Amino acid sequence: MKEQIEKIWAEVKAFNANTADELEQFRIKLMGKNGSLTALFADFKAVPVEEKKESGRLLNELKIAVQEKIDQFKEHLSAAKGSTESSSDLSLPCQNEPAGTRHPLSLVRSEIIRIFSNIGYTVSEGPEIEDDWHNFSALNFPPEHPARDMQDTFFIEQNPDIALRTHTSSVQVRIMENNQPPIRIIAPGRVYRNEAISARAHVFFHQIEGLYIDKNVSFADLKQTLLYFAREMFSPETKIRLRPSYFPFTEPSAEMDISCNICGGSGCSMCKKTGWVEILGCGMVDPNVLENCNIDSKIYSGFAFGMGVERITNLKYQVKDLRWFSENDVRFLKQFGPVV
Ligand code: PHE
Repeated sequence: MKEQIEKIWAEVKAFNANTADELEQFRIKLMGKNGSLTALFADFKAVPVEEKKESGRLLNELKIAVQEKIDQFKEHLSAAKGSTESSSDLSLPCQNEPAGTRHPLSLVRSEIIRIFSNIGYTVSEGPEIEDDWHNFSALNFPPEHPARDMQDTFFIEQNPDIALRTHTSSVQVRIMENNQPPIRIIAPGRVYRNEAISARAHVFFHQIEGLYIDKNVSFADLKQTLLYFAREMFSPETKIRLRPSYFPFTEPSAEMDISCNICGGSGCSMCKKTGWVEILGCGMVDPNVLENCNIDSKIYSGFAFGMGVERITNLKYQVKDLRWFSENDVRFLKQFGPVV
């Protein structure tokens, strides 16, 4: 047994592998099913008792040495492979990380901004944590007025009230306080409401509001601007209709519907068989609001409108559940095309 062990030792010491294949042959020759080392372990049973201790030790040492040799060559060969690969062809394209996709709300927000910037609107932003004046009082919602109930929110401090804004109309107040007309802005941003979360309502959503103040701005200007928007956003055949409504800060006020972009107006589940879907609120800015913001309502007039980005996105992509927008599920998110 000792002799055979020594023979294999010599073989192991002399061994050199240039390829993974040679290394594998070596491993099979020694440690495979019919390998010489495997055979020695089988023969070990027959070794006389007095030699067992010594032979067992030598056999184990040999096994460890063989395994070390194999590991050593394996490492050596894979390092060599790596270095030849990187130096062999530098012109190969690199492995790009997948780029991901833009969030559907970002896509639609960008599209709305593009449409309004084409007709001279600039983008304004403001804080999400607002005081009572900018979110309510300046906009003609006096304290205790029932209209405040439509926009319950989350209060951060009380007396004086500091709360999460319920709409981006607060940005319009800030712009009017600090600028004289002509003013032509859109205000995109996240807004908050104290609502039970469901497929159709959430505690936060995104709005884009618009404001245009100048001399002689009329309801006809509002209507034409919104018609232009609807046709750019949905399709050139889109029709609009304005229904009388109420907002404290506009007079007159209206809700705007568009002809259903799914069925073209013939009636489907999206438009509840009416052929129309509501997309935004709008109206002529109440003179009280202009005066609150130091704009002379005898010289200037203007209109405002506000829409939910989620609502427009739902109509464009038929997203059935509002919660999907904030669940971070890539199976949903990756359906909206690559980053552009
Ligand atoms: N601020 C209103 C809302 O959040 C939308 C609106 C904006 C309505 C401007 C009219 C004019 O519901």
